Amino acid sequence: MTEASKVLVTGGAGFIGSNLVDRLVREGYRVGILDNFSTGEISNINKADIEEGRIQLHRGDITDYQLVRAVVKDYEAIYHEAALPSVARSIEDPLLVNEVNVTGTLNLLKAAVDLKVKKVVYASSSSVYGESVKLPKVETMSSLPVSPYGASKLAAENYCRVFAKVYGLPTVCLRYFNVYGPRQKYGHYSGVIPIFITRLRNDLPPVIFGDGEQVRDFTYVQDVVEANVLALRRDVNPGEVFNIASGGTTSIKQLAELLAKLVGKPHIAPEFVEERPGDIRASHADISKAGDALGYRPRFVPAQGLPTVIEWFSRDKAPVANEPNPA
Ligand SMILES: NC(=O)c1ccc[n+]([C@@H]2O[C@H](COP(=O)([O-])OP(=O)(O)OC[C@H]3O[C@@H](n4cnc5c(N)ncnc54)[C@H](O)[C@@H]3O)[C@@H](O)[C@H]2O)c1
Repeated sequence: MTEASKVLVTGGAGFIGSNLVDRLVREGYRVGILDNFSTGEISNINKADIEEGRIQLHRGDITDYQLVRAVVKDYEAIYHEAALPSVARSIEDPLLVNEVNVTGTLNLLKAAVDLKVKKVVYASSSSVYGESVKLPKVETMSSLPVSPYGASKLAAENYCRVFAKVYGLPTVCLRYFNVYGPRQKYGHYSGVIPIFITRLRNDLPPVIFGDGEQVRDFTYVQDVVEANVLALRRDVNPGEVFNIASGGTTSIKQLAELLAKLVGKPHIAPEFVEERPGDIRASHADISKAGDALGYRPRFVPAQGLPTVIEWFSRDKAPVANEPNPA
């Protein structure tokens, strides 16, 4: 059991980070957020929690080591969610993605060692596996990423493992599989679910790259949040890596049809275009290791969280569709 009352969430203004922050505040932690707001939003953070001191907001960039060190000194544990999380963006700008995802992580780990942080929980990704012949993907399989993004997440994961071994820093890496939920952004670099929902809401067909038979293990954000809470509390071997997913699969074609029905437009059929580089064919996780070691049990089978997301997108500031690119 890791005892910590003050925890820092990097990327706490983003989609997953802000959902995690809400939960940590409810659990009674004093929470710090370190974010440069490059993709995060201030509206994702509860204003009253900032005003009443439950959340301390640190605006800054994880690529700035001195700043990272100055922030980290006030915290006992770190959730590291900040990154540029897009395959497409990493293909367009691999240097920037490396700087944020790899150097940013190294900065945090170095500060965490020097300042004797009790645990670092790292948001890794299913993209580290790349294409594999065997499914479901198990942590013991080799990691051969097929995009600069996947390579950056694997490099950062390796640093977490090495820092555990060399410096004795307790790190845990959670490999999230296609997370979805409220606050996930719609845009050029966003995930497939916000893009499909937004296009359908704007009477446009979802655009599928390839034949649509590619499958993903869609994981609801509250399950990811739960895994993070468990990863901080449970004692596991430093440097361990865990798949965090729903454990089931949905094809992109099924997803498009399901969302069309849920949005109330079952007559809108998807449009098919060329496959994209960097996309993998199949993603499906074996989650037994997280079940055994962390007590992780996903509560949302793939489709269960979708109505909540659709409802969230229908609130006041629903985006207008202008992006054909599901990531
Ligand atoms: N969304 C998914 O399906 C998914 C899947 C696997 C792994 N992940 C990982 O989960 C984490 C969170 O992803 P997300 O989907 O919430 O993305 P997001 O873009 O919503 O959140 C990332 C946050 O990091 C902040 N950030 C980016 N660069 C920064 C920098 N240089 N310094 C400080 N803050 C910075 C952004 O402003 C944002 O608030 C990432 O590490 C991502 O790689 C996400």
